Amino acid sequence: MSGPSARTALVRTNHFLSNTRTSTLRSNCPACLRPRPSRLLHSSAIRQYNGTKSLQQGGVAAAVSAAKMMFANGGMSPPPGPMGIDPLKGVAKEMKFMTGNIRQLLGSGHPMLDTVSKYYTQSEGKYVRPMLVLLMSQATAMLPKEGTSRPSRGIDEPISSPSVLSDTNPDSPLTGQETYTQENSVDENILPSQRRLAEITELIHTASLLHDDVIDTSISRRGNPSANIAFGNKMAVLAGDFLLGRASVALARIRDPEVTELLATVIANLVEGEFMQLKNTALDEKNPTWSEETIDYYMQKTYLKSASLISKSCRAAALLGEHSDEVVEAAYQYGKNLGLAFQLVDDMLDYTVSGVELGKPAGADLELGLATAPLIFAWKNNKELGALVGRKFSEPGDVQRVSSI
Ligand code: FPP
Ligand code: MG
Repeated sequence: MSGPSARTALVRTNHFLSNTRTSTLRSNCPACLRPRPSRLLHSSAIRQYNGTKSLQQGGVAAAVSAAKMMFANGGMSPPPGPMGIDPLKGVAKEMKFMTGNIRQLLGSGHPMLDTVSKYYTQSEGKYVRPMLVLLMSQATAMLPKEGTSRPSRGIDEPISSPSVLSDTNPDSPLTGQETYTQENSVDENILPSQRRLAEITELIHTASLLHDDVIDTSISRRGNPSANIAFGNKMAVLAGDFLLGRASVALARIRDPEVTELLATVIANLVEGEFMQLKNTALDEKNPTWSEETIDYYMQKTYLKSASLISKSCRAAALLGEHSDEVVEAAYQYGKNLGLAFQLVDDMLDYTVSGVELGKPAGADLELGLATAPLIFAWKNNKELGALVGRKFSEPGDVQRVSSI
């Protein structure tokens, strides 16, 4: 899929992204039916939030606005017809059950672990990743089934003996209790395994946020104190690990080795991306020289950290739908381009949108020492930026110097 396809993907997701992110300012979102978070932090707390995302608007909604501007400025407008359809509406009912289903997957007999691991499900995130899996499942449902026949056994059915799985923890949900009933499975175009895959993507994403907030020493997430603040670093990290464990159990019960391989690779990719982000260039030189490899490094990091989960889960959704290799590949490329485009726009906004509009301090990435796309392209024509990249903009005046270019 080429550049225009990535742009198309952005337009298709405009509506639901706007709704989900900006709904933090309203009461109930009419399309996704989610309530606003119970409370927002005081604005001074927002400013302290380690230079990361906003509670007011943030990267996603701002990314959508920027994408709209790009279309407007480039004379491109979404074609009439299906593009005018609100994609969220098609899966809104499915999404209503998402939080409950995820919480069911996370139940633990240990009360404190139960609380911490479910903490980020209280405020209900944007669910962008599960929504994309559901939309991909729905979009491909009408296509002929050509792939390998997939096992049809129940996704809640344990593989090992329940007495072994629950030997010391009788309150855990590992005993094969049915999660999808008549009332909570509403769209016959979405298979139970695809719905479960959607939930797994959110478990993995949330696990990564629990760990990320410890790494970034964040103070808030989804309108509340972040888990590391509420429960401490140790519990936050362990809760993230627990989520990964439960995601792995759920994955195993889909009984599809190819899908398991894809999603396990995503977990490794997230860690690889985060490791790459610790450096701005492959060799982490003190005074690096710009080269095409700088962009390659940044794009690889961006793929691993942001696009891998979307691309591989879209691919897995098509696999579970038993679609042809061609459809599976198209789903994968769609997710890859969408994930990359999303992150590129998000990185651009860090430079182009005011702190007030973005809801976070302008230039937050620079403050964190990160050289993202805008800086890398500016560096190509301003060789002196190499030294600043090398020292991660850590000296007084470094951030201002970049801003003045
Ligand atoms: C948010 O980035 C974080 C990620 C997209 C991935 C973080 C991945 C890890 C911490 C590796 C461990 C992974 C697992 C699965 C346990 P950000 O800090 O730019 O965004 P933010 O402003 O939302 O915090
Ligand atoms: Mg962070």
